[in-house]
Amino acid sequence: MPERRVVSLHDGSQMPTVGLGTWKAEPSKVGNAVSVAIREGYRHIDCAAVYGNEGEVGQALIESMQSGVVKREEMFIVSKLWNADHQHAKVKPALERSLKLLNLDYIDLYLMHWPLAMHDDRSLNFDIHFMETWKAMEELVDCGLARHIGLSNFNQAQISEVLSSGRIHPAVLQIENHPYLTQTELVEFCLSNNIQVTAYCPLARAGFPRPDRPGNLLEHPTVCSIAAAHNATPTQVLVRFQLERGITVIPKSVTAERIKENIQVFAFSFSDEEMKSLHAINLDWRIVPNEGCREHPLFPFSL
Ligand SMILES: NC(=O)c1ccc[n+]([C@@H]2O[C@H](COP(=O)([O-])OP(=O)(O)OC[C@H]3O[C@@H](n4cnc5c(N)ncnc54)[C@H](OP(=O)(O)O)[C@@H]3O)[C@@H](O)[C@H]2O)c1
Repeated sequence: MPERRVVSLHDGSQMPTVGLGTWKAEPSKVGNAVSVAIREGYRHIDCAAVYGNEGEVGQALIESMQSGVVKREEMFIVSKLWNADHQHAKVKPALERSLKLLNLDYIDLYLMHWPLAMHDDRSLNFDIHFMETWKAMEELVDCGLARHIGLSNFNQAQISEVLSSGRIHPAVLQIENHPYLTQTELVEFCLSNNIQVTAYCPLARAGFPRPDRPGNLLEHPTVCSIAAAHNATPTQVLVRFQLERGITVIPKSVTAERIKENIQVFAFSFSDEEMKSLHAINLDWRIVPNEGCREHPLFPFSL
């Protein structure tokens, strides 16, 4: 049974499959979460400028490195360019700000957070196309500040445009993915084009209040029965589900026991039948519909 601890990216470099998410990881909690995660074996941390907590993540990273728990080259750190920094001239300074906060000289993966631009006040900016932004991101690879660049929340047509008009291959697409939103076609498109897929909200944000939520995935009968069959927890089933599909996955927690639980996913695997029954949960339901950006011509979602 393959453990699936790492995947190879298009250029042969390796990316750890399970990372720690940091969105809504509150100040005073996120640093501890990162330190715990590194001690528990996480080598991939998912950050973003807009999460507003990269400074505390960076403090935990430097402490873990200086105390010898981990070396820089063992870590795979991801950050994301926010929508207000899509203008060519703003891209490099935006990464430099993140790197300073994260206490790093380079980022392993820099993602364009969304295909659409905004102004600083979060109103929509219709004047910048994502190819202008992508070209500026390519220069970050050229100058060594980013090892890889990639996309987040792009649809298939938008990814195709980057593939045909860009100079550097996008290493990763980060998208919402869990059994309520399996996005099979988009995932297959990426994997067949040598673009690694990372699943965000892999637990569909367990516990996050949403009145239209079809039900807590951690209590879903299919998820629970597969968990019982493998002596695993429902969360571990949701994480392993992505690994079985060749997808990397970034569950977020600030709770030490959960951080530990969420990465203990390498000692079991699922049968074809079990995978089929997890896929059958799909409802094309998003927890991140981003309705506020729907009028933008580059809004990516049709479902
Ligand atoms: N690219 C994008 O646009 C985008 C969008 C959204 C998210 N992301 C990234 O993806 C990461 C993950 O997504 P997410 O944080 O939105 O949602 P998620 O990982 O699906 O769910 C996080 C929630 O689940 C809880 N949880 C974690 N482990 C648990 C466990 N073992 N048992 C029960 N509850 C558990 C967490 O609580 P506690 O923390 O209180 O333990 C938190 O409330 C983000 O943190 C971020 O890094 C990217």
